[in-house]
Amino acid sequence: MSGPVLQARDVTLRFGGFAALDKFNLEVRPEEVHGLIGPNGAGKTTSFDVITGVYRPNEGSVLLEGRDITRWRSHRRTRAGIGRSFQTVGLAPGLTSHGNVLATVEAVQRVWAPFPAPAARARRRAEADELLAFFGLQDVADTQVTELPLGLTKLLELAKVFAGQPKVVLLDEPFAGLSTGEASERVKLISERRKQARTGVVIVEHDVPLLLDLCDTLTVLDAGSVAVSGIPHEVMSDAAVREAYMGEVVEEAGV
Ligand SMILES: Nc1ncnc2c1ncn2[C@@H]1O[C@H](COP(=O)(O)OP(=O)(O)OP(=O)(O)O)[C@@H](O)[C@H]1O
Ligand SMILES: [Mg+2]
Repeated sequence: MSGPVLQARDVTLRFGGFAALDKFNLEVRPEEVHGLIGPNGAGKTTSFDVITGVYRPNEGSVLLEGRDITRWRSHRRTRAGIGRSFQTVGLAPGLTSHGNVLATVEAVQRVWAPFPAPAARARRRAEADELLAFFGLQDVADTQVTELPLGLTKLLELAKVFAGQPKVVLLDEPFAGLSTGEASERVKLISERRKQARTGVVIVEHDVPLLLDLCDTLTVLDAGSVAVSGIPHEVMSDAAVREAYMGEVVEEAGV
C-alpha cells in the first residue's frame, strides 16, 4: 500500500489577526478524489494557496509524497507534481488550445533550452495531443483560446491541469457556470483520468450532488478548520453539516 500523496498538517495561516486557516488538515491518497466544501470564506481557496506555495503558513506543514515542501517556492512544487486550476479562468490568451497545454508540459519539465532536442519536443507535443484528445478537445487544438466558448474554456483548463503528469491536482470550482449535463460529463472525465494516471484530486465545488458522484472522501471546512471529513454520504447525513452548511442544497440532492 502506498502512502498519501498530499498532506496538510495543522496548517494555520493568518492575515493580520485573522486566521483564514486554523489548524487545517487534509490527506489525499493516489487516485483518490477528495471533495472540499464549506461556506463562502471558509478557507477553501486559501488552502490551495498554501498547498501550491502562494502563501507560507504561519504554522504547520505541507507534504508531497511524505516530503516536507512547506518552504518550497511555487514553481518547484509545480515541477514536483502539484497541478492547479483557478476559480477564475487561468489560460494564456495569446495561445491556441494546444499551445496552452504544451506550455504547462514545458513549465513542469522546465524547458528553457532555445533549441530543444527534436525527440524531446515531439514527446511533449504528443503529451499535449493526448490530453486534448482525452478531454475531447482535438477539434479545437489550433483554435485561439480567446475564441472558445466558456464551456470549452473550462474544459481546456481541466486538460491543462493534468498536463505534465502531476501527482495531485487541485480544482477550484471547475464546474462553475456549466450546465448539469456538461458538469456530469466532466465528472466522468476527471474520474477516469485520475485512475488512468493515478493522480490524486482535491476538488472545491458547491454542487453537492456532483461531488457525491465523484468523491471518495468529503471534507467540510468551516472558518479555516475541518468540521467533518469522511465517506461522502456519511458526511452529508451529519445533522450539523446539513443544517449549518448546505441547507437547501442537501434537500434538493435528496441525501
Ligand atoms: N490576501 C488576503 N488578505 C486578507 N484576507 C484574505 C486574503 N485571502 C483570503 N482572505 C480571507 O480569508 C478567508 C478565506 O477565503 P477563501 O477565499 O479561502 O474562501 P473560500 O472558502 O475559497 O470561499 P469561496 O467559496 O467564496 O470561494 C476569507 O475571509 C477571505 O476574505
Ligand atoms: Mg474560493
